[in-house]
Amino acid sequence: MAVLVTGGAGYIGSHTAVALHDAGHEVVIVDNFANSSPRAVDAVRALTGGALSFVEADLLDEAAVRGIFEQHEISEVVHFAAHKAVAESVQEPSRYYRNNLGSLLGVLEAMLEHGVDKLVHSSSCTVYGQPAVLPVAESAPVGAASPYGWTKLMCEQIITDVCAVRPLAAVMLRYFNPVGAHPSATLGEDPNDIPNNLVPLVMQVAGGRRERLAVFGDDYDTADGSGVRDYVHVVDLAEAHVAALEVLAAGHDGAAAVNVGTGSGSSVLEVIEAARRATGRPIPYEIVGRRPGDIAKTWAATDLAREFLGWQAKLDIDDMMRDHWRWHSQNPDGYGR
Ligand code: UD1
Repeated sequence: MAVLVTGGAGYIGSHTAVALHDAGHEVVIVDNFANSSPRAVDAVRALTGGALSFVEADLLDEAAVRGIFEQHEISEVVHFAAHKAVAESVQEPSRYYRNNLGSLLGVLEAMLEHGVDKLVHSSSCTVYGQPAVLPVAESAPVGAASPYGWTKLMCEQIITDVCAVRPLAAVMLRYFNPVGAHPSATLGEDPNDIPNNLVPLVMQVAGGRRERLAVFGDDYDTADGSGVRDYVHVVDLAEAHVAALEVLAAGHDGAAAVNVGTGSGSSVLEVIEAARRATGRPIPYEIVGRRPGDIAKTWAATDLAREFLGWQAKLDIDDMMRDHWRWHSQNPDGYGR
């Protein structure tokens, strides 16, 4: 019996595939390389001693999805495959809705047809917007500020509704800000074009590819005025999926949303400082205006992750910067697509 990892060539999916293998699971990856590289699959293969099945398919292709469930003995699904660029989702909403909702629906229907009743789903802390109370708990009000955010919320709703009436149990992991890379430096984040996220940009500055970082605002209501986020090491995050599958295997029923963060926030200026320590390089920056749509601060309440999943983050911001830098400095062009 195998775990199907959709989007398993992506940043979080590839690390999770390795963690699942290390925990004794057989893994089948499906990916269409819409925003990932075949070399990530090679890297996962190398780290798992070749023990990996891979299918290249688009989850919107119903026949292909059915084929995966017919050809492999799938017992659980970890669903990552989705578009994830906030600004792009504003420009191309229908493409985002079609892809993110359609992929989930295709996988869910194939699961139900084949009696597969355990799902771990990728969600995001974006569903909280700017929380009124910090740390933000899973019971906080949810909403969305972009089509991307809406797809995350709608997917949670779809899963919750299906779990209510069909034999399906699900854990929906609300990721905070994943950074870092596998300690082997063979797996990491490979943003295409110009990255939007802070840490890949910081690493490009450290590596000399970019002259300076633009810090989006120093007048937020935070200790140093820059935005605060809960950065979580991708290796810790991958482990949360293993823990979620264990909870499902133990017979948990229904659909549960669980935060995956460290529980403490770092400001943009603190991230820059940590990157300086990890890289030994200067990180020149300039303060510019706020980025439209950004929130001031968020970090996770971690009680549910600890109590329900038995999971908590082990790695801190220095580990994250060290591993992200090791990956970036050894693979400045990512997987070299
Ligand atoms: C962004 C997405 C969010 C997504 C998350 C995934 C937006 C508005 N939000 O969140 O939906 O789930 O990525 O990780 O795109 N910063 C700078 N300079 C930069 C880049 C970022 O100062 O060049 C700051 C931001 O203002 C923010 C922090 O760094 O305070 C983190 O930014 P980023 O990595 O883009 O993540 P989020 O904004 O939290």
